Amino acid sequence: MFADVKPLPPDPILGLSKLFVDDPRERKIDLGVGVFRAADNTTPVLKAVKIAEQRLLERQATKAYAPPAGVPGFVEGAARLVFGEDSPVLRDGRSAGVQTPGGCGALRVGAEILRRLEAGTVYVGAPTWPNHAPLLTEAGLKLEMIPYYDAQARAIEFDGFIAAVEKLGPGDVLLVHGACHNPTGADLDRAQIDAIIETADRRGFLPFVDLAYHGFAAGLDDDAYIVREMARRLPELLVSYSCSKNFGLYRERTGALLIVGETGERAGAIQSHALNVARGMYSMPPAHGGSIVAEILQSPELEAKWRDELAHMRDTVKANRRLLARTAAEMQLGDALAYIEGQNGMFSLLPLSEKQVLAMREKHGVYMTGNARINLCGVNAGNVAHLCEAYRDVTQG
Ligand code: LMR
Repeated sequence: MFADVKPLPPDPILGLSKLFVDDPRERKIDLGVGVFRAADNTTPVLKAVKIAEQRLLERQATKAYAPPAGVPGFVEGAARLVFGEDSPVLRDGRSAGVQTPGGCGALRVGAEILRRLEAGTVYVGAPTWPNHAPLLTEAGLKLEMIPYYDAQARAIEFDGFIAAVEKLGPGDVLLVHGACHNPTGADLDRAQIDAIIETADRRGFLPFVDLAYHGFAAGLDDDAYIVREMARRLPELLVSYSCSKNFGLYRERTGALLIVGETGERAGAIQSHALNVARGMYSMPPAHGGSIVAEILQSPELEAKWRDELAHMRDTVKANRRLLARTAAEMQLGDALAYIEGQNGMFSLLPLSEKQVLAMREKHGVYMTGNARINLCGVNAGNVAHLCEAYRDVTQG
């Protein structure tokens, strides 16, 4: 059975890490996988996480199965962060949720539920995170790209986006990035979000918000604007939530699928399908990451520490954006990279062709994904000049 199987190429994002590690050059820059890095290029465990882990270790008395919906306190804590402290949705009991293996798990469980509900097509603005396609289509859904970002103008093409959204109807799904758009870094403003919600209300399609970088744009409350407004103004909503970046729990695979229904009963019915889907795929999520998050969110002192650490990560990425945009200007690259300063989250797209991306890697040891997405966390005072020189070389020759 295995004899004729051809191996597949490595994943376009995760595969970059190995290429980078294998590159013997000292002057190399990793702008690949979306992982936070401090100025010394490390991805340390957050202090709040370390303390929570120590407490859990001391207290833990069993490794027996955790409940299928997740460890106690995790989904409730995530829902509070996402919907807000005094959310009407939580107060009215219109939400439910399940812990999932990361944001990917939430997207996949959500996709399986949508297939069961015989959803029409899932629409998403282009370009999007490449893993959206397998996560949704391998569950049997149809995925269609609509305009989102104009790479030439380095801006959202909202007219094209909203015109496409206008055509959606009941049974259709609109997948939107909650904050810190991946890969463009170009987020919708509040007026644009309001227009999407007004359209969803009128046309009756279901929004599915992917919130994987909560807290990295402007803060936990601001970044949740789209989810909170949708939950307030629309009858139904799905949210895939990731704690990989904001809690730095990447390898612990910690996320949640949050469900908002017109009533608590309806949200609960969808939750029962989420549990049933999960049972058929991986039974239940790993407990450790969820326990850490619950421990942090149940302790005011740890939560305050975590919020500080998240603010520090956000400020670091913003400072890196500024550093790159301003160094490029100082190095006479004009305002070619000025737009980067005003964007959000870890990513921006550079105006480079695939050939130029390859030249950045092969000639200069600068690693980014094939679509010229850079992770700003990899930029620092020690390498920004090299990055700008490389950029000049491949663009101006
Ligand atoms: C990324 O986009 O780099 C991250 O979300 C990691 C991943 O799983 O692709």
